[in-house]
Amino acid sequence: MRVALTILLPPLLALAADVPYPEGYRNWRHVKSMVIEKGHPLYEPFGGIHHIYANAKAVAGYRTGKWADGAVIVFDLLEAVRDGNAVVEGPRKVVGVMHRDAKRYQDTGGWGFEGFKGDSKTERVVGANAATACYGCHAGQKEKSYVFSAMRD
Ligand code: HEC
Repeated sequence: MRVALTILLPPLLALAADVPYPEGYRNWRHVKSMVIEKGHPLYEPFGGIHHIYANAKAVAGYRTGKWADGAVIVFDLLEAVRDGNAVVEGPRKVVGVMHRDAKRYQDTGGWGFEGFKGDSKTERVVGANAATACYGCHAGQKEKSYVFSAMRD
């Protein structure tokens, strides 16, 4: 019995919370930024200003359309604060992550999805709900390997 349990449990637990925090992503390549304001369909979950970052493997993915295992894309969402006639960055809301591993995350298009709340590197907001919380919407980008954004020159 004990043997059977140790064989079964690790994969289940691994799926629930194994997308690593993207350590050092602020040193990665900036892909693009966007401000989502009230009235936009994505306002509820993603209102604010976000910056997208790609590690080296993900930069290659944006360029070639082929995403190697280990490619990581970060959606860094901050509050957008009106300050006089400017919009400035407020506190961080969430660090969204897409982590490529074609086999491990085959149920969600080969991408592990996770969100880390605010400035926390451990407080996860997605866990086992990636299929409904994230992939459901990204699935519409199937022909682009589930990635919405594009890298400009
Ligand atoms: C309702 C649709 C929707 C949902 C739900 C959604 N996303 Fe996205 N996501 C988008 C759109 C649209 C973009 C492109 C934003 C841009 O171009 O700046 C995006 C971009 C991203 C990116 C940058 C790579 C890319 O595809 O452009 C990451 C990383 C990401 N989302 C993670 C997540 C995570 C993690 C979740 C679940 C917590 C999630 N997303 C849920 C619509 C969605």
